[in-house]
Amino acid sequence: MRVLVIGSGAREHALCVALRADPAVTALACAPGNAGTAAVAEPHPVEGADPAAVAALATRWSADLVVVGPEAPLVAGVADAVRDAGVACFGPSAQAAQIEGSKAFAKHVMTAAGVPTAQAWAVGTEAELRTALDEVAALNAPGSPYVVKDDGLAAGKGVVVTPDRDAALAHGLAVLADGHAVLVEEYLDGPEVSLFAVTDGTTVLPLLPAQDHKRRDDGDAGPNTGGMGAYAPLPWAPSGLVDEVLARVLQPTVDELARRGEPFSGLLYAGLALTSRGVRVVEFNARFGDPETEVVLPLLRTPLAGLLHAAATGTLADHPPLEWSGGVAVVVVVAAPGYPESPRTGSPITGADAEGVLHAGTRPAADGSVHSAGGRVLAVTAVGADLADARRVAYERVAGIGLEGAHWRTDIGLAALEGRITV
Ligand code: AMP
Ligand code: GLY
Repeated sequence: MRVLVIGSGAREHALCVALRADPAVTALACAPGNAGTAAVAEPHPVEGADPAAVAALATRWSADLVVVGPEAPLVAGVADAVRDAGVACFGPSAQAAQIEGSKAFAKHVMTAAGVPTAQAWAVGTEAELRTALDEVAALNAPGSPYVVKDDGLAAGKGVVVTPDRDAALAHGLAVLADGHAVLVEEYLDGPEVSLFAVTDGTTVLPLLPAQDHKRRDDGDAGPNTGGMGAYAPLPWAPSGLVDEVLARVLQPTVDELARRGEPFSGLLYAGLALTSRGVRVVEFNARFGDPETEVVLPLLRTPLAGLLHAAATGTLADHPPLEWSGGVAVVVVVAAPGYPESPRTGSPITGADAEGVLHAGTRPAADGSVHSAGGRVLAVTAVGADLADARRVAYERVAGIGLEGAHWRTDIGLAALEGRITV
């Protein structure tokens, strides 16, 4: 099977590494890729968010399967264009990707499917925004933060969670000034879980639950980011969590999208909060999460290309049950100075070819070295027998990286290890 991966982050590097390990894969390419994917997959300088260019590459390269990593190409219709060209594609249509691309659409689907989520107000004017902030304050437990979101793709950075009403108002006004709608949401208390499911639009196969660390700094301080680290599986997760989320969230959502004539095939990512009132959906994504993919895929024993091909061709019902290694995986994101606000790029990196080091924002330099090219630069992974072991090895590997001014969290998985996460 000839597999073409679209994207250029650590998620795509993790996908390439896992696909390479599948004996069914005879050739692997990644477009546009980064300095890390180039070592395992043929690089092609094609812009991932250009549907016609990706479809042309898939045809020219004789791909049997295209795997789309990021959300922007999906929302732009890359999966539709690839399928129209007669090539199997792992990733939803532009229509179905609205489950991530529009938070208002996601809310409609969840309401229709009876999926538990935060109550939300969609607002388009300052007056509506002020009213929604008053109403949500009355609904939330006293002292709870306000949650104000940009109703569009914002790479995880369009959300402000703050107890300060003025800051919440200011963020909402800034989003309105950009011409976007704003969503004000009920505050969801409780630990967050990322649960991915592979689906062909009918059959849904959940993967292992993982936990991201969205804030920049230790102790969940600082601004929201695309994700600073993750671990999987979750030692504190209630038994039966995956079955419950499959029955109450994932399957009903997939069924509702099919009922609307917008079947979702690809990776459905449920971002969940385990609140005092039960499981609630924080958001859906239409693709593998980053950095969670970097900890989920290393634990998967089932060959990845066969699984994704089955989803892309509607044959998941015949696929054998997934097998897992039984270990624990940790990923620590090494970020550029200034990330997330204004990352500095173009700096040389050393140690980026070491074991377990996945590339996020990197590019090969003319002299053969590797330079930073994004905010999240590397995703340093380790698999261990337990969480303590995986953390120890991951941080040893981080210590081997050289990037001037780089920063990373030192507490990935620590709250879980110390038993500080309760449901
Ligand atoms: P989103 O872009 O919707 O994924 O939100 C980014 C992050 O903001 C989430 O991972 C949560 O940490 C936080 N967040 C979003 N919505 C809520 C909510 N309703 N209650 C509490 N935290 C939230
Ligand atoms: N880890 C968060 C995301 O992929 O959106």
